[in-house]
Amino acid sequence: MSTPKPFIRELKRTHNCGQLRAADVGSEVVLMGWVHNRRDHGGAVFIDLRDRYGLSQLKFDPAVDAAAHEVGGALRTEWVLAVRGEVVSRGDNANPRLPTGEIEVHVKQVQVFSRAKTPPFPIEDDTKASEQLRLEYRYLDLRRPALQRNLMLRHEVAMATRAYLDTQGFLELETPLLVCSTPEGARDYLVPSRVHPGRFYALPQSPQIFKQLFMVAGYDRYFQIARCLRDEDLRHDRQPEFTQIDVEMSFVAPDDVFGVVEGLMAAIVKRTRGVELKTPFPRLSWHDARRLYGSDKPDLRYGLAIADVSGAVQACSFKVFADTVAGGGVVRGLRVPGGGAAMSRADVDKLGVAATELGAKGLAWFKVEGDDWKGGIGKFFPTPADRALLSGTMGLEDGDLAVFVADKEKTAADVLGKLRVQLAEKRGLVKDPDELNFLFVTDFPLFEYNEQDKRFYAAHHPFTSVHPDDRAKLASDPGGARSQAYDLVLNGNELMSGSIRIHDREEQADVFKVLGFTPEETEHKFGFLLRAFEGGAPPHGGCAIGVDRLVMLLAHAQSLRDVIAFPKTQKGQDLMIGAPSEVDPKQLEELHLRVR
Ligand code: AMO
Ligand code: AMP
Repeated sequence: MSTPKPFIRELKRTHNCGQLRAADVGSEVVLMGWVHNRRDHGGAVFIDLRDRYGLSQLKFDPAVDAAAHEVGGALRTEWVLAVRGEVVSRGDNANPRLPTGEIEVHVKQVQVFSRAKTPPFPIEDDTKASEQLRLEYRYLDLRRPALQRNLMLRHEVAMATRAYLDTQGFLELETPLLVCSTPEGARDYLVPSRVHPGRFYALPQSPQIFKQLFMVAGYDRYFQIARCLRDEDLRHDRQPEFTQIDVEMSFVAPDDVFGVVEGLMAAIVKRTRGVELKTPFPRLSWHDARRLYGSDKPDLRYGLAIADVSGAVQACSFKVFADTVAGGGVVRGLRVPGGGAAMSRADVDKLGVAATELGAKGLAWFKVEGDDWKGGIGKFFPTPADRALLSGTMGLEDGDLAVFVADKEKTAADVLGKLRVQLAEKRGLVKDPDELNFLFVTDFPLFEYNEQDKRFYAAHHPFTSVHPDDRAKLASDPGGARSQAYDLVLNGNELMSGSIRIHDREEQADVFKVLGFTPEETEHKFGFLLRAFEGGAPPHGGCAIGVDRLVMLLAHAQSLRDVIAFPKTQKGQDLMIGAPSEVDPKQLEELHLRVR
């Protein structure tokens, strides 16, 4: 007997674990991978060998090779091995659930590359292990097929992005990570300088200023799949480190940016889902989005538009409504089609509790039964004449539930906007889980007024240009000024933000003035940008698409943590490597930081 050839150096992998089919029967193959599971059937040992591509059944049969069979008997899950063997048909024992289920490999030679401790949780998709444990052993967690699919999807998104933007003349350019504080509105992560005692770099919240400088420098079309770092309170759709497809273009209006974003989304969806996306995407002004859906990121997969019924109820006998309108507030209503028949009194009460928790003073309601309005405030509309105006305004039909919030405009919109989402969820109004409903929301306000600080803040960032029709409002009514900022919404999630930027020094100075920046502050924070603009700045604009959110939605994942290879917990920790960690006092000294 000749000595067997060594694996890897001479015996190369011939196939991956998801590749073999009936057509391969009879060939000799070399597979490498992880032991997914093991069944000892007395005579023969069966192993499912796993890699990123799939599973293949191996049979260690003493009649084929006694030595291999002996090794086979000792194998445990997650050991890493190589096998050489013959592909054999499983005949009547084929497993139709596995792509490789028609065959098995009868092992003639085996080598264990690495043994493994019993994993703290089984490597399978419906794991019961806590997320905490899985994050601690992320390298094992990442072996689960669901996470592997998510990360492969992420790769597809990146590849489609690069390919598409390249065809559109965009240059992929990098920007620095050690920068100064950027005005994105979250807290900065700071990095102390060793060489300059008492000075700090900031990690970028986005490449915003640099991409604008690329425009000033004449690069015309820039993109970057950029890491952004923000020290903010985390949620399921917020990570302290995240990734954006960051885009900037010169000589453009919002339409031009939208065209690129639509093309990019279509290319990504085509590559990852194989379907053609319908473009252009619908557009809604921020004002209309708030009025109709009580949100700046409305989910339009279902209707449930909010109606302003202030006019229709100002003279009604329900005092709360009449008084609210008289006091300058509004009454907004939501028609829940079929909700009257389908929702019990307890359901409606629960909705009322939700409304109060969201900040409403109450939730008025009635059910439409035939020509009559039953329950709640129905009694305040006793005759057809009392009902006509409100019914017409809301388009009420038999079987509907109608709910109302009377309050300040903002509260009424906010509460009903959120109830709308809860109702859609509860009543299963999203019929197609694969639907991708994109919407551009345009003309955001330029500023937000903060009652506590008694000052305006930039709603997007301080380089966002004012809407051409509202330039005069910078001086007369900053709170009423619209901007040229826009968002892209996907199924009710903010996927992208962007704006046309200010390229005119005077407009920038006026905006800084509203924001209350002194000339010294302006010079200190943005002096270099203003000077850059003096060097000749083209009109420019762009946007940034949240890659993590996009992949999360494409993957039907529940959390950003399921689409980021090494995410942070809700408390900003990496449980695997133990970050943030303490450091050697000597390092602190070098960095001129006091040791406590
Ligand atoms: P903005 O701050 O709105 O705009 O961010 C753009 C998009 O990035 C995603 N995103 C996040 N994703 C995960 N975790 C986070 N903490 C997080 N924060 C934001 C969202 C969001 O829509 N420089 C501007 C863009 C521009 O004006 O061109 C910016 O960063 O999907
Ligand atoms: P009341 O007159 O306080 O008994 O309220 C009658 C109904 O109106 C209850 O269902 C309350 O939840 C509801 N309600 C009270 N205040 C408001 C409000 N501001 N907007 C909508 N409904 C309200």
